[in-house]
Amino acid sequence: MEFFKVLQERHSIRAFAERPVEPEKLRALLEAANRAPSAGNLQAYKIYVVTRPTTLKALMRAAFEQKFVAQAPVVLVFCADPKRSASSYGERGATLYSVQDATIACAYVQLAATALGLGSVWVGAFDEDAVRKALEIGRELVPVALLPVGYAAESPQITSRRTLDEFVEYVV
Ligand SMILES: Cc1cc2nc3c(=O)[nH]c(=O)nc-3n(C[C@H](O)[C@H](O)[C@H](O)COP(=O)(O)O)c2cc1C
Repeated sequence: MEFFKVLQERHSIRAFAERPVEPEKLRALLEAANRAPSAGNLQAYKIYVVTRPTTLKALMRAAFEQKFVAQAPVVLVFCADPKRSASSYGERGATLYSVQDATIACAYVQLAATALGLGSVWVGAFDEDAVRKALEIGRELVPVALLPVGYAAESPQITSRRTLDEFVEYVV
């Protein structure tokens, strides 16, 4: 799909068909993450690919019972790895760059999902420690986003946007 069409066609999907995501498509999503820029090219994040039903349920509970989290055939969990970025960038790497690295990777995956005919929704409302518990990970990783991915079982709600002049300032 043409890039600007991908931007236009991406909408949050919160209902998923039971159909699984093909392994080659899943792989393409992860390869898309791997193309994302990152501070110092450190790629200071980890991505968990969750398909285990009990873990999907635990993630759904961690996300304050947002039901579609457990309905998706796969949920990708993007975690910042502050220590990895701190090794080069100290405090700024730990608190900012690692989170940005993980965020950009997730945004790339969301767009790649659209290009592959898949739906997704960015989930930021969750209890960090409950996500850590579901994934059996320690405090060295910071869960930044959950991304349920699958084939859409709904027509997306089309959301509005601000006009450019509401948030763009030209400095000339
Ligand atoms: C940082 C962030 C956190 C979000 N958290 C949630 C969430 O917890 N649950 C949810 O249903 N959608 C969540 N969303 C999706 C937004 O609601 C959605 O992107 C926005 O309404 C615009 O709609 P669109 O994605 O269809 O363009 C989140 C999006 C972002 C970027």
